[in-house]
Amino acid sequence: MNVLTTIAEIRDAVLAAKNNRQTIGLVPTMGYLHEGHLTLASNARKENDVVIMSIFVNPTQFGPNEDFESYPRDLARDTELAASAGVDYIFAPSVEEIYPQDGGIYIRAGRQAQILCGASRPGHFDGVLQIVAKLFNLVQPDSAYFGQKDAQQVAIIQTLVRDYNFPVELRIIPVVREEDGLAKSSRNVYLSADERCQAPAIQQALQLAKRELIESRNVEKALTLATKIIEDNTDGKIDYFSILSYPDLKEVDEHSGQIVLAAAVYIGKTRLIDNLIFSLKGEVAHV
Ligand code: PAF
Repeated sequence: MNVLTTIAEIRDAVLAAKNNRQTIGLVPTMGYLHEGHLTLASNARKENDVVIMSIFVNPTQFGPNEDFESYPRDLARDTELAASAGVDYIFAPSVEEIYPQDGGIYIRAGRQAQILCGASRPGHFDGVLQIVAKLFNLVQPDSAYFGQKDAQQVAIIQTLVRDYNFPVELRIIPVVREEDGLAKSSRNVYLSADERCQAPAIQQALQLAKRELIESRNVEKALTLATKIIEDNTDGKIDYFSILSYPDLKEVDEHSGQIVLAAAVYIGKTRLIDNLIFSLKGEVAHV
């Protein structure tokens, strides 16, 4: 496996693959890999000739008071893990390599980015779209792999691909969880032992709300129940708990097909997100 750090190197690797008529799968990450990322990589491995994983902690998607500086990084460990998942190339550029000092063109996310994580992280999804669009242009992947854990990110990237005509197939991979239900996340390392014990309550609250919603179709009741689970079982602070149609992220009504039940909760200082996507008939939905 090769670690590439420059735009010239990634372009050469992509050109070689295209000349050999090889398909390319892209796994965009910010590194500090966990099983969720490795599941994306192994899906990409099964479905493509060449697998490229980007590892780039993207400054433009972090707010001024967020954890850009302290975000966990370990390229040596990531390289070993990515190799074991069958990745062919890691693309790990510097910030200077990716963003021109005098750059002035931005992408602005639309309505889907004004709510949920976008409401408490203004500009976050603009930054995500900026880096994802750049990666799509540099890597020209046939398929790109994203985790359903970031359901709003997935919905917004689907809109990017549609609105900007990127010739890429998005492959959305279900959330990978710890045994107690906690969604795997690079930020789980921030949790103290006590906070780690509280964190699975998020998934329990989502499951309970889902059951309530399927049985009663009562959005308010489902949200009240979920809030109570978080309040009774954690010292956490709810950022949001929402029930919306998916992927358009609008209010649920009788015509809604897929539903996303999405939560963001601060456990201590760590903001954790999780979600369930399903149809009101109770089946897990196809994203
Ligand atoms: O989901 C992430 O890790 C990031 O938002 C992504 C898609 C790699 C863009 O930086």
